[in-house]
Amino acid sequence: MKSSALVFLAAFIALSASWGGFVLAPQLQLGRAAQVKTIPAQDNYPVARPGLAAQGAEVYRSLGCVYCHSQSVGQDGVKCEIVLTDAGTNAIATLAALGKFNAELGKPTTLALLPKAILQVADMNAADPILKAISSAGAKAQVLVSALGPDMARGWGRRRTVAQDYLYDLPVQPGSRRAGPDLANVGWRWPDANWQLRHLYAPAAEVQGSTMPAYRFLFELRPLGKPAAASALQLSGAFAPPAGFEIVPTDAARALAAYLVSLRADAPLFESPFTAPAAPAAATNSPVK
Ligand code: HEC
Repeated sequence: MKSSALVFLAAFIALSASWGGFVLAPQLQLGRAAQVKTIPAQDNYPVARPGLAAQGAEVYRSLGCVYCHSQSVGQDGVKCEIVLTDAGTNAIATLAALGKFNAELGKPTTLALLPKAILQVADMNAADPILKAISSAGAKAQVLVSALGPDMARGWGRRRTVAQDYLYDLPVQPGSRRAGPDLANVGWRWPDANWQLRHLYAPAAEVQGSTMPAYRFLFELRPLGKPAAASALQLSGAFAPPAGFEIVPTDAARALAAYLVSLRADAPLFESPFTAPAAPAAATNSPVK
């Protein structure tokens, strides 16, 4: 065995290179990931899930929801729109400044009906000189940054998913299959825990033609108590319980619904920015777009 040292060396190099690539490098990149500040609000992000929602993550895991649902939003690029908000007092100077970037914008119609998106640029570097020119002419403008891509078009998120989004999740459940919608922001689309419960009990009651399996075993059919349980589901039509009965969520169902409502990776971050529109309504029966 003259070559045994060579075999050993080759095996050693192969194993240590893969350990370096798969264990050491990710640990160096992400092992010390910590809370970050949102922009521009400077809030801490993310915050740990509330207790019930953290229990719900285990229910989600045990029921294999991850086989049909991803929690990872992709993004192709960004769109930076310059919105003119105030024409200032010197219209001629403003139009002259704008005309330098685009001859069409030098026309007086640009200043009608403000605020209005006047230009679209690739990134903030391209936006900066335009903003400077506008403000030195005495006018005001702001930049609206929005993420682009098929996932955004489907309404699944406002920015791509980044490592911080999973900071307090152990294990992380990004999923890889999408038989159903991505759930990274489902708590933003459906912030009402009762909607989540009704959907788990009978997906088709909430989404016409839904092919998601019903999780009836997370609920109990109980004879109607006096008084009726406060948590009983409000179901109507074909999905309503028989007369004299009520459908009450188990603890696991309530935890799972709390977890789903807590899924909202929608804070604007430095590494994944967007301009946040006004906050959606607290509880609603229709998806927030
Ligand atoms: C066999 C695949 C499958 C499994 C397993 C599954 N789902 Fe779904 N899910 C779907 C499909 C398809 C839809 C889209 C139709 C609908 O909204 O009901 C959906 C929709 C949803 C929605 C609504 C999303 C939205 O944006 O409207 C939620 C919330 C949800 N599922 C949660 C769960 C949870 C929690 C589990 C595990 C207990 C689970 N799903 C398991 C297929 C699945």
